[in-house]
Amino acid sequence: MCMCVCVCTGGSMASGQLSREEALACVGCRHACHILLYADTEAQLFEEIPIRHIVLMQMRFDGLLGFPGGLVEPSEESLEEGLSRELWEELGFSLSVTVEDHVSSCHNPSSSSSHPITHFYARRMEEKEIREVEKAAASTATDHGHEVMGMVRVPLYTLKGGGGGLPSFLSHSFIGNSRSQLEDALVRFGLVTPEELQTALKHAAQRRK
Ligand code: GTP
Ligand code: MN
Ligand code: MN
Ligand code: MN
Ligand code: MN
Ligand code: MN
Repeated sequence: MCMCVCVCTGGSMASGQLSREEALACVGCRHACHILLYADTEAQLFEEIPIRHIVLMQMRFDGLLGFPGGLVEPSEESLEEGLSRELWEELGFSLSVTVEDHVSSCHNPSSSSSHPITHFYARRMEEKEIREVEKAAASTATDHGHEVMGMVRVPLYTLKGGGGGLPSFLSHSFIGNSRSQLEDALVRFGLVTPEELQTALKHAAQRRK
């Protein structure tokens, strides 16, 4: 039984992380690995609003947003091998994930044993490669239309008036702690400033009322 005590919610995962090694030492724990794929872009919305970065998430079969990836069986494969396998199933794209892509691992004690330890990875790509991922995910990926309803890009801007863009996106429903993973990563990798995220979260909270 796992004795790890940590909580990874609310955008600040720093409080409740465990290392990759601590997580793997957890006897009887299940493991899930997911990844954020992102790239810089010069593209503009309406020839006016800079898109700045492409950030990929997916619409899952259950109607929730999440990252590509899935359950890994450490007795049969390394976390990174398992994640690469999941990416092949869900994206139809061969990407060899390494330990260097690891960002954080999290076990939420409030969740039952049916909730796995979640390992989060990130990989910066070229815009061209992201487009190839999107193409493969919509055509050759075996899980397309089954486990994965489609890839989506995260809007990072906030439209005039406050609601549209990132605030609206954050108002959707997310699987597990993927919303925290997204918020953490956006700031960690400099894709939005902490101030931009706070403003977006404020608008998002107003939208949910
Ligand atoms: P199957 O092939 O049907 O077993 O699904 P899968 O292996 O692709 O697993 P999935 O991606 O659904 O992830 C397994 C579990 O991890 C989910 O039931 C959630 O509890 C959690 N999970 C899924 N996506 C994410 C994510 O993006 N972030 C986090 N933190 N957890 C996730
Ligand atoms: Mn149009
Ligand atoms: Mn899967
Ligand atoms: Mn999955
Ligand atoms: Mn799976
Ligand atoms: Mn599957």
